[in-house]
Amino acid sequence: MNSLQFHSLSEDDTQRLGLALGRSASPGTVVALYGEMGSGKTRFVRAVVEGLDGSPTDVSSPTFVLLQQYSARLPVHHADAYRLTSETEFLDLGPEEWLTGPGVVLIEWADRISNCLPDDRVDVSITSTGETSRRFAFTAAGPMSRRLLEHLHDT
Ligand SMILES: Nc1ncnc2c1ncn2[C@@H]1O[C@H](COP(=O)(O)OP(=O)(O)OP(=O)(O)O)[C@@H](O)[C@H]1O
Ligand SMILES: [Mg+2]
Repeated sequence: MNSLQFHSLSEDDTQRLGLALGRSASPGTVVALYGEMGSGKTRFVRAVVEGLDGSPTDVSSPTFVLLQQYSARLPVHHADAYRLTSETEFLDLGPEEWLTGPGVVLIEWADRISNCLPDDRVDVSITSTGETSRRFAFTAAGPMSRRLLEHLHDT
């Protein structure tokens, strides 16, 4: 399965979706998040972390912290590329270590560092369609990401 769409009508819908993705995630899962400010990237990450049996309250909008790590069923690395001025600055965060490690990686504003992303990843584009409604478009490029979307589809 290469793509999947989901229409969230409320924060609770987004919560359920994120929980399901967190439960389906496996070592090496990389999720690249796209969407305008306030579209719900961080809100979604919080639910994913909860789905991984981590503590959702640890997840804050990493506006001033470029990278946060949480312990959960798998180690979680949460990056926000919004304030980065170059891909070099991203590479200074040592991403090759966690992008190829056994944890789960979630990156907000991934379009800013697109050349640094692995091929096998799940792209998640969030679009606001109303005050509390969001369209989630999931795209998988490689075999691991496709399996994740299949699992997500079946749950
Ligand atoms: N269906 C929904 N799904 C997700 N968030 C929603 C939904 N409806 C309303 N919201 C609200 O939208 C906001 C999303 O904020 P959030 O910090 O997650 O955005 P963001 O995409 O991470 O923004 P930024 O680019 O600034 O990091 C929250 O205030 C949340 O309560
Ligand atoms: Mg955010």
